[in-house]
Amino acid sequence: MCGIVGYVGRPSGQVSTEHQALDVVLEGLRRLEYRGYDSAGIAVVADGAISSRKKSGKLSNLIAELEANPLPAATTGIGHTRWATHGGPTDQNAHPHLSDGGKLALIHNGIIENFAELKQELLEKGVTFQSETDTEVAAALLGDIYRNQLGGDKANGGLTKAMQLACQRLEGAFTLLAVHADQPDVVVAARRNSPLVVGLGEGENFLGSDVSGFIDYTRRAVELGQDQIVTITAESVEITDFFGAPAEGKEYHVNWDPASAEKGGFPSFMEKEIHDQPDAVLQTLLGRSDVDGKLTLDELRIDPDLLKSVDKIIVLACGTSAYAGQVAKYAIERWCRIPTEVELSHEFRYRDPIVDAQTLIVSISQSGETMDTLMAVRYAKEQGAKTVAICNTNGSTIPRESDAVLYTHAGPEIAVASTKAFLAQITAAYLLGLYLAQLRGNKFQGEIKDILSDLGKIPEKVQSILDDAARIKELGESMVDAKSVLFLGRHVGFPVAMEGALKLKELAYIHAEGFAAGELKHGPIALIEEGQPVFVVVPSPRGRDSLHAKVVSNIQEVRARGAKTIVIAEEGDDAVKAFAEHVIYIPETPTLLAPLLTTVPLQIFALALASAKGYDVDQPRNLAKSVTVE
Ligand code: AGP
Repeated sequence: MCGIVGYVGRPSGQVSTEHQALDVVLEGLRRLEYRGYDSAGIAVVADGAISSRKKSGKLSNLIAELEANPLPAATTGIGHTRWATHGGPTDQNAHPHLSDGGKLALIHNGIIENFAELKQELLEKGVTFQSETDTEVAAALLGDIYRNQLGGDKANGGLTKAMQLACQRLEGAFTLLAVHADQPDVVVAARRNSPLVVGLGEGENFLGSDVSGFIDYTRRAVELGQDQIVTITAESVEITDFFGAPAEGKEYHVNWDPASAEKGGFPSFMEKEIHDQPDAVLQTLLGRSDVDGKLTLDELRIDPDLLKSVDKIIVLACGTSAYAGQVAKYAIERWCRIPTEVELSHEFRYRDPIVDAQTLIVSISQSGETMDTLMAVRYAKEQGAKTVAICNTNGSTIPRESDAVLYTHAGPEIAVASTKAFLAQITAAYLLGLYLAQLRGNKFQGEIKDILSDLGKIPEKVQSILDDAARIKELGESMVDAKSVLFLGRHVGFPVAMEGALKLKELAYIHAEGFAAGELKHGPIALIEEGQPVFVVVPSPRGRDSLHAKVVSNIQEVRARGAKTIVIAEEGDDAVKAFAEHVIYIPETPTLLAPLLTTVPLQIFALALASAKGYDVDQPRNLAKSVTVE
């Protein structure tokens, strides 16, 4: 949940270094700020000492501090943007934290679960603490080991050995980066249950929470495994386990284009990513079926015979990704006839779920680092289930720990509120469902080809909605003073209603709630009063007419009680006009694929209303892009 950057370049005075640590670290933090922005800090090693600055609030506050109190030139440094867990977002609690008399600096992402007992042990040794954070305890432990256990002597393994010994004591989830004044050309890092990747340069090396931390400098990355320590210098990268045994990382090429992580001319990443959606769906479909419509999911490295024996699917996800799973459930059950449950990851393992070797676990995660989902996947694996990850972040932890992965190719999603990843997740889940139907013979090849053909038309249909975005934006701006908005949907429209409500909550900070349309009369209809805005996602009249008729009557129910109805309906559906204050028409498409279209107006609406309020739509308050703590 925090952004982490580390850098070592050639020491100045030798071959002239290409980059200053300050520049590399700040650029990395700028790209990683979406991971958390309660505070930011940086430490460099120069002139035999550690120099550090840190400030609460956004990165711009740290930059102002650095302008007022510059750091010395340095080619070794670490930086951090924080999403507060232990201790509020204050200057004191900001990272880095110092120890060993100010000669050691540490930054951390995650939660040290046994920090209280370690703190007590260190207090009894006379260590004093300035912050409320678990990170400062880790820094003090590392400094104590380095100074008192190893005698502060590089001959005894120095900072690397100290990190190994410290990590043997730590419990919980952590990515740690440390520098020490005694070793000015080294950054040492460790990871357990928290993201960390290495960037390989020429005469310089990098560390980042994800590749955007160093993408401006190199596309060569090394993914680290669980419980590993990495020591980088300008010329070397050495990996061990927590006990010093040599280990290997897996090198890969980063396929992100730095420019694509920028805003592409839009005022916000949020708007850019909404407009990226036709391509996100297209890219996710690309290369996964042949001309005959036969699906070729090569990355699905699970024995086909095992997939044929699957008798239950459990989808694990949180937030928007869970709504993608709920949409997928309707399609997978319809196409494959496999019972499919959708579980919130953080609830799953505490309800004693029934999981066995015939259960297929499908995790859905944009970041691939959501701790709730990672821990749920691990639990399911312990119960013997096979696991497939639907994920948007190459080399992230959840796919690495799954038996197979189906990457969405939505490109980097920087805005905290998820949009294009949501559509890509639904697309990938459809592909998985069709693949299972193909493998198990539930669908003829021709049927699958027809569905793939319908899916292939989605990008252009999404584009047509985007081309008409101005009208939806006006509607959003006109409702800038709305205090509450309700969203109704049935069948696959129900998770869309939930997602529409979540977008509005996340971006505009107003009360919004999604309901199953049929549920309204069982209580929530009491909320309806004169002028209450209610969005209704209407299924195609060409599908099950009973579904359509029932939703139209739901519109009448709320309309009769004074609601201001905004209806999303299929082009040509005139039946809704009489009961709608506003109708937003979307192109015809098969019912099961409709969420890929009906979601888009709700995203545009939420963005417009939040923008009219003047809110930061890329980094909404209290949120982080990747929730890497449970
Ligand atoms: C999406 O708008 C939210 N920011 C949030 O609900 C998110 O979907 C959830 O935290 C899951 O994240 P993941 O997809 O990276 O696992």
